[in-house]
Amino acid sequence: MIFDTHAHYDDDAFDGDRDKVIDDLIKSDVRKIVNVGANLATSLNSIELAHKYDFFYAAVGVHPDDALEVNDEGISKIRAMCEEKKVVAVGEIGLDYYWNKDNAEVQKNAFIRQIELAKEMNLPIIVHSREAAKDTMDILSEYAAGKVGGVVHCFSYSPEIALEAVKMGFYIGVGGVVTFKNAKKLKETVEIIPLEKIVLETDCPYLAPTPFRGERNSSLFLEYVVEEIARLKGIDGNEVKEVTYQNALEMYKIKD
Ligand code: NI
Repeated sequence: MIFDTHAHYDDDAFDGDRDKVIDDLIKSDVRKIVNVGANLATSLNSIELAHKYDFFYAAVGVHPDDALEVNDEGISKIRAMCEEKKVVAVGEIGLDYYWNKDNAEVQKNAFIRQIELAKEMNLPIIVHSREAAKDTMDILSEYAAGKVGGVVHCFSYSPEIALEAVKMGFYIGVGGVVTFKNAKKLKETVEIIPLEKIVLETDCPYLAPTPFRGERNSSLFLEYVVEEIARLKGIDGNEVKEVTYQNALEMYKIKD
């Protein structure tokens, strides 16, 4: 059984054939999916998918790209969404200095406010962090985000930072990137951290694994991610599936 902890099936890339893609998932080994919001609109879309499909759950939150949405009104809207059935996390939230570093203060403020909200609602967080390792770790520690825990998604930092995040109470999200030849750091991270702290994710439609790199991603391709994690850890693929599935249930506090 496979648990995709991070997907965006509401994305335009699925507009032409969304129902068919999701029907194919129902027939596969993929048993649970969390569709993740990146702003107020896509958070609502995520809730809608979770209401429509039994095996979908939703995360609601605002990505650093849309940090300006996180004002008083935005926070009360996210708070109301957190009360909806099948909302299991606040995310994706965090810092992204790859695309924009000039608004770092705005991003930090949005990140902190949503961490505080997650603590108030007692929901785990989904952290997006790119080229912002130090500020991210500082904020997670200063605002005691480990109290609710969650995942550092699409993990792209060093094994040392992964271990630090795990110690704080976070899981490490691993997806298609681990299959890329040049993903040396991520492969090392997977080797070093315990399987009990890894969760699977697609971030689809983005980040399809090899041999589909550059194409539209889907949870079906997680088989390739499982295979690579199994190879790196020298274990069986079924063990990777079962353990990461349990990890995800525990992380999102979902009863199976
Ligand atoms: Ni994402």
